Amino acid sequence: MSHDVLDACGDLLRNSRHLLVFTGAGMSAESGLPTFRDSDNSLWARWPPETLASAEGFRDDKALVWGWYAWRMANIAKATPNAGHNALAELEDLRADLAVITQNVDDLHERAGTRRIVHLHGSIFQSRCFACARPFVGYEIPDGAIEDPSLRIMPPKCRHCGGYVRPGVVWFGEALPVTAWSQSEQWVRECDLLLVIGTSGVVQPAASLVSMARRRGVTIILIDPGQSEHVASVDHHLRMGAGTALPALLERVKSAR
Ligand code: APR
Repeated sequence: MSHDVLDACGDLLRNSRHLLVFTGAGMSAESGLPTFRDSDNSLWARWPPETLASAEGFRDDKALVWGWYAWRMANIAKATPNAGHNALAELEDLRADLAVITQNVDDLHERAGTRRIVHLHGSIFQSRCFACARPFVGYEIPDGAIEDPSLRIMPPKCRHCGGYVRPGVVWFGEALPVTAWSQSEQWVRECDLLLVIGTSGVVQPAASLVSMARRRGVTIILIDPGQSEHVASVDHHLRMGAGTALPALLERVKSAR
């Protein structure tokens, strides 16, 4: 990667007043968490999304679905924020205008220290009752879950109505959380620079936030070592991992202070 592109992006960050960051699974790849589509180890390369990420799939086989999410929860809990998460959190310390919209259901942004954030696709640790939707807290992930994604584990039952508990993530065919979506639209309306990090851009309506920014004439920087549908609509494409690009951009912002 040429340093002048990084320098130019560093200048854009320094001169922006409302920096918005939009992240996908690639943001957590360097923390050891699998992405969904871009490699043979990606989740949807190994399992059918309709079976594991739909209400239908949960109704058909609660133990298979809950066991798979327990495996994901255990691996996320074991993972740590990478240099990219940490750089974003440090950048927020330097500039309170920074906001993060993430498609990720892990909590690595928060564990790195990011505070202004919305989760468009929910949060894996915020389980709730499938019947009455009340939050369910205090789930203890069984020991065997971390090794075996196919371990069948019956979900816990709601302490209020006795219904089965489901993961707090948005499944295919489900609506996005209203508050998270309206907050995201507002941040897109306000931003003057958009950093798109680690997302293939194939899932709607999340991906439409980037075209919304484009239509407003917002400058867009993509951080992705691979391909993304967003490539055609960005001003700069840093073909690097988030864990390398973000610390490099942070250095350029700090060195000019
Ligand atoms: N740094 C930055 N980007 C990376 C890295 C990295 N280290 N490693 C991989 N990537 C890129 C890939 O090149 C790809 O473009 O991250 C992107 C991951 O794309 P997906 O796996 O499709 O993940 P994402 O775009 O977040 O998926 C969107 O699909 O199934 C749903 O709910 C799920 O939120 C998810 C949504």
